[in-house]
Amino acid sequence: MRQLIRGRTLSFHADPAEVENAFTYHEDGAVITENGKIAAIGDYASLRDPALPEIDHRPHLILPGFIDTHIHFPQVQVIASWGAQLLDWLNTYTFPEESRFAQQGHAPLMAEKFLDLLLSHGTTTVVAFCSVHPQSAEALFQAAEARDMAMVAGKVMMDRNAPEAVLDTPQQGYDDSKRLIETWHGRGRLRYAITPRFAITSTPEQMEMTGQLVREHPDCHIQTHLSENKDEIAFTLSLYPQARDYLDIYETYGLLSDKLLLGHSIHLEPREIARMAETGSRAVFCPTSNLFLGSGLFDEAGLRAAGVVSGIATDVGGGTSYSMLQTLNEGYKILQLRGQKLHPYAAFHWVTRGNALALGMADRIGTLDPGSDADLVVLDSRATPAMALRMDRAETLAEELFILQILGDDRAIAQTYVAGKPMLG
Ligand code: GUN
Ligand code: ZN
Repeated sequence: MRQLIRGRTLSFHADPAEVENAFTYHEDGAVITENGKIAAIGDYASLRDPALPEIDHRPHLILPGFIDTHIHFPQVQVIASWGAQLLDWLNTYTFPEESRFAQQGHAPLMAEKFLDLLLSHGTTTVVAFCSVHPQSAEALFQAAEARDMAMVAGKVMMDRNAPEAVLDTPQQGYDDSKRLIETWHGRGRLRYAITPRFAITSTPEQMEMTGQLVREHPDCHIQTHLSENKDEIAFTLSLYPQARDYLDIYETYGLLSDKLLLGHSIHLEPREIARMAETGSRAVFCPTSNLFLGSGLFDEAGLRAAGVVSGIATDVGGGTSYSMLQTLNEGYKILQLRGQKLHPYAAFHWVTRGNALALGMADRIGTLDPGSDADLVVLDSRATPAMALRMDRAETLAEELFILQILGDDRAIAQTYVAGKPMLG
């Protein structure tokens, strides 16, 4: 099926924080999609073809679909839980809620709701933590496959410091992960992430078996948490007294590489930053979560200067919005408190090509380059009265993008395409 999608197209081919001409913008542009992929992009006048069906999104903006590099699928009913910082929040709200995913039928129901929410917020790919129960990952992969979404996900492995109902054992965590990898990794657009929740909830024996999984499946991603909260760091170091620092635990078990996504990475030692840069391990900035849980202020410029690649993510349900626009809004404010600036070009690069680069998937998603998968978001910069009023004073594309970045949310998502198919209304 070949179709032409008309609108103002914007796609990045470099990082605007590093080079000047980082994007291509067509004021009256079009994307031609064919069999789920982008076949061509350019000016409407040069691409128009009376033989093609046309969808006209003018005056809206067409960008690559947003990518969220850290989110917890079993926390759709944890988001907006009051009054706690990380460890109390996990024990009070999160672990009890994740234990519900043992119940028959719960995970498939939540998976549909989760994907509906992602698409209504313009997000076409996520890297997701599932619960400890393998059926939570099964349900999410099945639901994503039915919508032909590109998704990276894994069941968490956790064998201590949580209620029995959300624990596995080193052997069970290994066996369940292995089976899920064999079933789902590389099937269609799906990939598996080996997922030790964090060092607090894994014994050294489980970390050892995690390292074995990583050696046996070097093309899987690995996702975990690092240095989110001061009490978390102190507890972690007490559990691994030999470790030089928090990152050293993950290094000891052979987890560091450019496949490793380290959620939060806030309170880092210079040695940890240097090792992340040397090994290519990714930091993942989770602004709404870091503010909501009072965790701390991510040092984007410091990590960049050290050569660390960073993704940006919602971290729902510690995060408070599914919207990557709202994530950029809060990210902007955190960097203000750090004396750093998040320019709208850099921001929109980050949630598209930047996150795709962090995942090593920029050849497939994150741009509008021909040959990429046709995952698109269509943005309405006048979606609300406040946005429309402010837009009347906007003179440049950068200003328009900044209005979306600060005032935008799911109301600004006019359409979301997955593999060339419109997914909303
Ligand atoms: N650290 C370990 N588990 C979690 C989680 O579910 N959310 C957040 N924000 N941090 C974690
Ligand atoms: Zn998280």
